[in-house]
Amino acid sequence: MQDRHKQSVKFDTSLDFARKKDQGDELRDARDRFFIQPNEIYMDGNSLGMASKDAEAALLNVLALWKKDGIKIWNREDGKYYHYARVLAKPMAKLINADANEVTLVGSTTSNIHQAISTFYHPTKSRYKILVDDLNFPTDRYAVDSQVALKGYNPQEAVRVVASPDGRFIDEDAVVAAMNEDVALVLLPAVLYRSAQVIDMKKLTIEAHKRNIIIGFDLCHAIGAVEIDFDAIQPDFAVWCNYKYLSAGPGAIAGLYINKRHFGQTPGMAGWFGNRDETQFQLKHEFEHQQDASGWQVGTPPLLAMAPLEGVLQLFDQIGMRKIRAKSLDLTGYLMYLIDMKLAKYGCGIGNSREDKKRGGHICLEHDEAYRISRALRDNGVVPDFREPNVIRLAPVALYNTYEEVYQVVHILERIITEKIYEQYHTNRALVV
Ligand SMILES: Cc1ncc(COP(=O)(O)O)c(C=O)c1O
Repeated sequence: MQDRHKQSVKFDTSLDFARKKDQGDELRDARDRFFIQPNEIYMDGNSLGMASKDAEAALLNVLALWKKDGIKIWNREDGKYYHYARVLAKPMAKLINADANEVTLVGSTTSNIHQAISTFYHPTKSRYKILVDDLNFPTDRYAVDSQVALKGYNPQEAVRVVASPDGRFIDEDAVVAAMNEDVALVLLPAVLYRSAQVIDMKKLTIEAHKRNIIIGFDLCHAIGAVEIDFDAIQPDFAVWCNYKYLSAGPGAIAGLYINKRHFGQTPGMAGWFGNRDETQFQLKHEFEHQQDASGWQVGTPPLLAMAPLEGVLQLFDQIGMRKIRAKSLDLTGYLMYLIDMKLAKYGCGIGNSREDKKRGGHICLEHDEAYRISRALRDNGVVPDFREPNVIRLAPVALYNTYEEVYQVVHILERIITEKIYEQYHTNRALVV
């Protein structure tokens, strides 16, 4: 209630208010660097971030170099592209306040979970369980289950699942209570994909380490959206994708963080790009592990899936996460305020935390007709996404969304609901929602 009161003092419901906020927004120029589409309000940056001119320029540059240089691309500029993962790790590491050599760019989130678990999961007779929650994105669970099965365990027995009390949020104390002596490793999301709950990574890491448990986090919904301080948190590993808030493109190269205290560990899934530079091209059959995160690379870096990241990371570096997070919180605060004022009376609820420090980058709008409303939104110039069973996710992204767009989205929602426009739609699910 106190939070709601604060919001009502800060915002008002007029269009003029939204326009004034945009005029005073110090990040407003960043929007011009994105490919904003006419007559479309893009609110899906938590799923796939918008394309930017910076990403395009970086990609076209690598394409041009490939055309001109062919194989010589690997050696130009002191081996920049041969070491591309390390080059990108520098600005990337700043987003999580880690050392650059604790970060590498490799694979996908899912393959990096496999990589991390196969590196850190060494079950013994008495300590063999992996602890997870029941709200994480399914791919994390598929990877965990298949990794325990590879070690000969039955996932139903060896994977301990902490159930959410309400289907929205994870109870961190329940996770801690489940860290028994039989738990070898914990994998949790940093921000929940549906309710945007920000998990207290520091508290959970401290508790896991007190019990000698390895802990890692999936940062997919956190990276580029919230400030992360791994220097303070000191988790064992983390994984993330770069195609959501970081806007590095569909299927962009993913991220992997390996805490420096583990550099001596052997990667579970070794490959020749994880070999020491000095001996990689000696092509020996004995793997000599590079003793930093780049040792967890596997095969040849996919330059065309990496280049856009170089472009967008420059933008993040120039603006900095502090300002991005501050604007994002203000935008989501404003969106919640308008939902409360204009849509709550039509059955719209808010399924995310109202507390700033517990709220990620998107708003979780709940409605019994969420699916059909989300389809109607698309046909009315708004790109949201839908998550089962009743959630419309709306992400006003600090770098390219405006306050006026937030205002318009609520206005369009009001029309779709009050004029029952959503009733024209079928309840059958489309392939990608
Ligand atoms: C928390 C989380 N993990 C993983 C993924 C997807 O994994 P990948 O990047 O391997 O497709 C998503 C996709 O939305 C996600 O939200």
